[in-house]
Amino acid sequence: MIKAFLFDLDGVLVDTAVFHYQAWRRMANSLGFDFTHEFNETLKGVSRMDSLDRILALGGVALPDERKLELAAQKNDWYLELVNQMTPDDILPGAEAFVEQAKRAGMKIALGSVSKNAPLILARVGLTHVFDAIIDGSKITHSKPDPEVFLNGAAELNVQPAECVVFEDAVAGIEAAKRGNMFALGIGSPDVLTEADLVVPSLEHITVAELLAAVDKAQG
Ligand code: BG6
Ligand code: MG
Repeated sequence: MIKAFLFDLDGVLVDTAVFHYQAWRRMANSLGFDFTHEFNETLKGVSRMDSLDRILALGGVALPDERKLELAAQKNDWYLELVNQMTPDDILPGAEAFVEQAKRAGMKIALGSVSKNAPLILARVGLTHVFDAIIDGSKITHSKPDPEVFLNGAAELNVQPAECVVFEDAVAGIEAAKRGNMFALGIGSPDVLTEADLVVPSLEHITVAELLAAVDKAQG
């Protein structure tokens, strides 16, 4: 029986996935190369330093650790310029209503994000109070696709992994959920999120009752 919902943040509850893309591209451009939307899909759910390594490898750029830390800090400054303009209007369509529905249905709610900026973003859009547990980038040692972030969320909520649904827009996040033995609801395109148990374009397109019925069906 499902008892808890674990939400990714960037690209699921708020549209910051676009801000990450813009800030990383700005950094890549400053080094003389660019990357595509398709490549960007492989960065979603991946920690800041792991993302930087992937981008530098794509551009064929090798740098000492000290320079890499500078670049990551620069990217984060550019990213925060965008985050600092966020308001509650930046919550993605249907997300807040869905979370409220889930709470009324008695679900426990956790955040499972590898972002170190997650608490700041939640505060900016006024969503901090909805969570029973918040697992962010400061509380984990392994980035998605490692299941650590979601397993920690389940443990903090005192539920079993099989009692959780994970909400994810990232290929790495879906893999983390499946490796953690959780039902994975993909937010986005089924062509991208091929390993998800179910995919919807946004939280506007599903109700809590419909989701729980789909889980029941899948778990037989
Ligand atoms: C994830 C994003 O939520 O957080 C990634 O999908 C990002 O794109 C990662 O790299 C780390 O975020 P931050 O805010 O700590 O740089
Ligand atoms: Mg995401």
